[in-house]
Amino acid sequence: MVMQELTEKFREMKRRGEKITALTAYDYPTARLLDESEINIILVGDSLGMVVLGYQDTTRVTLEEMLHHTRAVARGVKQALLVADMPVHTYDTAEQAVETAKKFVAVGAQAVKLEGGASQVAQIEAITRAGIPFMAHIGMLPQHVREEGGYKVKGRTQSEAEALLSDARAVEKAGAFSVVLEIVVADTAKQITRAVDIPTIGIGSGEHCDGQILVTHDLIGLFPWFTPKFVSPQARVADEIRSAARAFIERTRGSKTPSPHGSDIQM
Ligand code: KIV
Repeated sequence: MVMQELTEKFREMKRRGEKITALTAYDYPTARLLDESEINIILVGDSLGMVVLGYQDTTRVTLEEMLHHTRAVARGVKQALLVADMPVHTYDTAEQAVETAKKFVAVGAQAVKLEGGASQVAQIEAITRAGIPFMAHIGMLPQHVREEGGYKVKGRTQSEAEALLSDARAVEKAGAFSVVLEIVVADTAKQITRAVDIPTIGIGSGEHCDGQILVTHDLIGLFPWFTPKFVSPQARVADEIRSAARAFIERTRGSKTPSPHGSDIQM
């Protein structure tokens, strides 16, 4: 499908006031389950670094790691739009950005995302000129968490809100088909949502965005050591894993002779 057809659907959903849903996946079964649930967008986020690879933040995630996981996710996606995150320092110039974006397309991504607004216009224009659908990401930028000194709320002051508005307008003009707003004050997110024709997809940015995205591990309680304040988990998968593991351990330790029937110890 050509770029226009893939992404026009999302502008149309915004026009109709239909909320867009997006979740992250990093592996085949999760991607397939989300896809079967009829989620609109599946993002192979570089949050992979934290919730799957055990890094402290996303700044250590490599291109090879992202490509490996995107390939697995692509095998499980049939109906959702598959977007992949370009890791930090894989889009330092417009040329490098296009080269990286093409690598993601080659492993099955249908669109790419990178972090930044007005400062990334050359990269975004180059990617969209190459015919690759592009999702923008403004507000809190996790790839810059070290310089920022933490995950801080954006758009609190008038000048921050104005800067975010010009970022959103800049990425729209450069060809983005949607823009993620990460931890942006709800009122500012509302203003941005009204100011642009492309859909805003919020994460911790209030209810007025055109859609919502979450890290799936946060939503299903699979990373219990840290849950962002704005997330209300819908499940407790970590507890399920622990209790299944404990039950298996007890059953194994308690069984002197393996039963010939129904035992998972038997081959
Ligand atoms: O890396 C990621 O998962 C993201 C989303 C949280 C928007 O960028």
